[in-house]
Amino acid sequence: MDDASDADTSDCDRFETCVDAAESGGRVALDSFRSDLVVEAKGDDPLDAVTAVDRAVQDHVFSVIGDRYPDDAVVGEEDDALKSVPESGVAWVVDPIDGTVNYVGGNRVWMTSVAVCRDGDPVAAANYAPAVDDLYVASDGAATRNGEPITVSETTDPAAFTINPLFGVSRPHRRELAGVVETILDEFGDLRRFGCAQAALSGVAAGELDATVSTVELNDWDTAAGVHILRQAGGRATDISGERWRPGSEGLIASNDEAHEELVAAFDAT
Ligand code: IPD
Ligand code: CA
Ligand code: CA
Repeated sequence: MDDASDADTSDCDRFETCVDAAESGGRVALDSFRSDLVVEAKGDDPLDAVTAVDRAVQDHVFSVIGDRYPDDAVVGEEDDALKSVPESGVAWVVDPIDGTVNYVGGNRVWMTSVAVCRDGDPVAAANYAPAVDDLYVASDGAATRNGEPITVSETTDPAAFTINPLFGVSRPHRRELAGVVETILDEFGDLRRFGCAQAALSGVAAGELDATVSTVELNDWDTAAGVHILRQAGGRATDISGERWRPGSEGLIASNDEAHEELVAAFDAT
């Protein structure tokens, strides 16, 4: 067997684990959803929140992965896990709860996200939204929501585009967000802001939205799984200049590929 088919077979095996880890991790979080939670701020900003549940879910997902693939690198948002995807080899990317502010507020838009990357590129992914029981997954060439194939929207007219801007809560992110919101409202249709980057990317993959954009570098756990699902559903993900998106890219333009050049031109200039 050559190296390429070795990689294909092991990516396929890892895909099963990826789905198990996201689903079972999501169920751990669901057990404490809408319960009394102690919320800690990670830094100075009260909206940069974490709970004991985020950490417990990450521990759970890491142990599912570690039991089956003890030698693989694992990137994760919480504690002292690796913080970015290595350029070479296999790496798992975990956001135990993407949308923690929604989670602590009792809003159902949050996901447990797990991706597998090979040599820096996502090759398998699962995003599970336990509160609404929606599971988006993709391996090689197929993306599904709850087992049904999904594809991106067919919207072509930029004026009809619904776009979700992806930014954190820091001062520099807020300033960039203000410019992006203005551009969306001036040059495109309408905006949504889910507060869960993986839900936005999964939503574009399934045609629930037309695009999601950021002009800043995002964390790999906010992006890798959703970008893979989007691509397998027929969408396109580039950096702010229109180059193929990779973990660590500056900015992210993820769309149904019907007006991608217009999006890049509009947001590259923001
Ligand atoms: C956040 C959410 C939010 C995005 C932020 C992320 P967290 O993740 O995905 O939508 O705009 O950039 O940090 O902190 O809830 O895991
Ligand atoms: Ca996140
Ligand atoms: Ca998180």
